[in-house]
Amino acid sequence: MKTQLLSTTEQDLEKAAELIKSGGLVAIPTETVYGLGANGLNPDAVKKIFEAKGRPQDNPLILHIHDPEQLRDYCREVPEEAWLLAEHFWPGPLTMILPVRDCVPRTTTAGLDTVGMRCPDNAATREIIRLAGVPIAAPSANTSGKPSTTTAAHVLHDMDGKIDAIVDGGPCRVGVESTIVDLTGPVPRLLRPGGIGPELLEELLGALEIDKAVTGEIARDAVVRAPGMKYKHYAPAAEVLIVNGSTEAAARYVRERFQPGDAVLCFAEELECFAGLNPTAYGWESDPASLSAGLFDALRSLDEGKVKRIFARCPTGGGINVATRNRLRKSAGFHIVNAETSDK
Ligand code: TXA
Ligand code: MG
Repeated sequence: MKTQLLSTTEQDLEKAAELIKSGGLVAIPTETVYGLGANGLNPDAVKKIFEAKGRPQDNPLILHIHDPEQLRDYCREVPEEAWLLAEHFWPGPLTMILPVRDCVPRTTTAGLDTVGMRCPDNAATREIIRLAGVPIAAPSANTSGKPSTTTAAHVLHDMDGKIDAIVDGGPCRVGVESTIVDLTGPVPRLLRPGGIGPELLEELLGALEIDKAVTGEIARDAVVRAPGMKYKHYAPAAEVLIVNGSTEAAARYVRERFQPGDAVLCFAEELECFAGLNPTAYGWESDPASLSAGLFDALRSLDEGKVKRIFARCPTGGGINVATRNRLRKSAGFHIVNAETSDK
């Protein structure tokens, strides 16, 4: 299959919508990461998403809508909290888990009785959804297990020849996937940290449970609420080791162990301290949005450079850093050391 590159002109958005309507696969830009989209109401189209990504069948997809009102079309119940969240954060990087209506095929929800709903903050993609007249099911547009894609070039790298088209909407602003909140239980529950920091949700909702998948390591066979959270994720080909502690302690730790083929992934403020250790900055520690926006691109470019091992610096604190930390920890397979307390 030849993968077409489309732009965000009205004519190309119409082409993209036609492809979706006719059961094709189209990569779409969103403010978080690129999505691999298909008609979410067509099980045959949705199956192709799982094939193109090599995605396990038990991992449900998110449905993307262009207008919050569409929640009524695809969800059996929409609690007050959902409208409140939609009003504050949509269009934006938030996905809500809600009871699903029967019109959504179980291929999309991987057999679950619930569905993830999101209204993305990207005008071109909302226009494609509107023109197609169907909700678009879309996981991140990467090969399963690899870092998500935040540019059209990343998508082309993973999906060339496997999908019908890629709509190039430029680099993604947020850079990590949406925050996922489960609204089907008695208390709203954070399943995945993302573009909207947990503090903002808690402030609005009053109470928020944090699923252990958000912070801790989870066993492969554990029952998890967001099935995708149990898989190896966001992992470059290189082995990743997170080195915590002060910049000075971390630089000392790495210098003592550094071998040819190793690299350092750090904050721009630290480049000088890691001089000679093949450092790449993925953003500024003083600008958390730059870290989330740059993380996946940096992991992917280190892979291009055939790096074997990455010593990575991870941000602390709340807000978007919760999501950046979560993705980095997963890409490291929870392989973390503290340079200040580790044996010399
Ligand atoms: O920002 C995003 O959310 C991006 C863009 C493209 O919208 N999409 C995305 O999709 O990250 P994906 O499939 O890569 O991650 C969706 C996560 C998976 O961990 C999946 O298991 C979980 O959401 N999920 C989907 N539907 C669910 C449901 N009904 N209940 C619990 N978890 C669900
Ligand atoms: Mg994904």
